[in-house]
Amino acid sequence: MPPSILPSSNPPILLLGTAMWGWTTPKETAFALLDEWYARGFREVDGATNYPIDKNPEHFRLAENILLEWIKTHGVSDLEVMMKIGSVNNLRTPEHVLTRSFVLMMLDEYRWLFGSNLATLMVHWDNRDDASAVRETMEALDIARQHGLRTGLSGIRHPEKYAELNREFDFDICIQMKHNVLQSDYDRYAMFHGQRRFIAYGINAGGLKLDPAAYSAKSSLAARGADVTTEPPIVEKIRQIIAEANRVSDRPKLSAMHEIGMLHAFYQPDMLGILLGVSGVEQLRSSIDFYEMLKANDFSDVFQNLQRLGA
Ligand SMILES: NC(=O)c1ccc[n+]([C@@H]2O[C@H](COP(=O)([O-])OP(=O)(O)OC[C@H]3O[C@@H](n4cnc5c(N)ncnc54)[C@H](OP(=O)(O)O)[C@@H]3O)[C@@H](O)[C@H]2O)c1
Repeated sequence: MPPSILPSSNPPILLLGTAMWGWTTPKETAFALLDEWYARGFREVDGATNYPIDKNPEHFRLAENILLEWIKTHGVSDLEVMMKIGSVNNLRTPEHVLTRSFVLMMLDEYRWLFGSNLATLMVHWDNRDDASAVRETMEALDIARQHGLRTGLSGIRHPEKYAELNREFDFDICIQMKHNVLQSDYDRYAMFHGQRRFIAYGINAGGLKLDPAAYSAKSSLAARGADVTTEPPIVEKIRQIIAEANRVSDRPKLSAMHEIGMLHAFYQPDMLGILLGVSGVEQLRSSIDFYEMLKANDFSDVFQNLQRLGA
């Protein structure tokens, strides 16, 4: 019998995303999400200095402030917060600072703000190919490691520079990468393959729906500037894969894009975690429930069909 690729013995963990907090997700909803998340036993939360990236300068650092307010309100000290740093605004511009002094300043700032809730410091967006500049960043990350933090990378144009230097620094790096059925950055990080370091974001391609009627003026995809009136051809192919999957008896049925997005990340090799971008408590519950269901059922045939779709 061929070995099962069911990753249920060591499945990727879930992390709660905050990119839309203060934008399409109001503070009250973010609080309700955190209440539910915490009550269900989850602790990982992802943030970034520039969330929400809604180009409203008044909202710079608003998402982290909502998170901090919830932490303070509840006196919580055991979250596992991943903070991405380097941005100096939330205007979606390529300006970012990753000098040694700036990284150390952000390290101090987030250690002070989050205390024991801070788990990971992550470089956010780096276009540099200058090895000496990247080394400076790594040296600052080394200080973060000395403070007991994990280090990470996200949106790196030249990951090979970090991989080379990491032979010397030997960080237990984790890497956020876009990974969905339309687009995956997994191949771009080939030098890190074979290690369980990857955290998938954008698993629903930013809020793609299989049912066109499910879009509203408030949809995340529309807020991010996408045209939701034209259905990409891949949607019909996903519907066909779901129809085929649902012919298998003795297994829960698939129906929605968030299920497909999570399944596609869940079975991906080297996956350490999956980021949830949910805009309400109902979405959070259905995503967590589907994750628990995936751990108990074999959907590897569907993953293989989705992979062929990407190819
Ligand atoms: N490292 C980076 O550069 C980077 C980049 C992007 C994101 N991230 C992180 O990853 C997180 C997630 O990213 P993302 O928002 O792009 O993720 P996504 O999963 O591609 O899109 C999220 C959207 O999918 C829909 N959705 C999700 N779960 C659903 C459910 N159970 N039922 C129905 N619809 C559902 C919702 O759309 P509607 O709201 O329209 O219903 C939701 O807003 C972010 O919050 C952030 O923390 C990191």
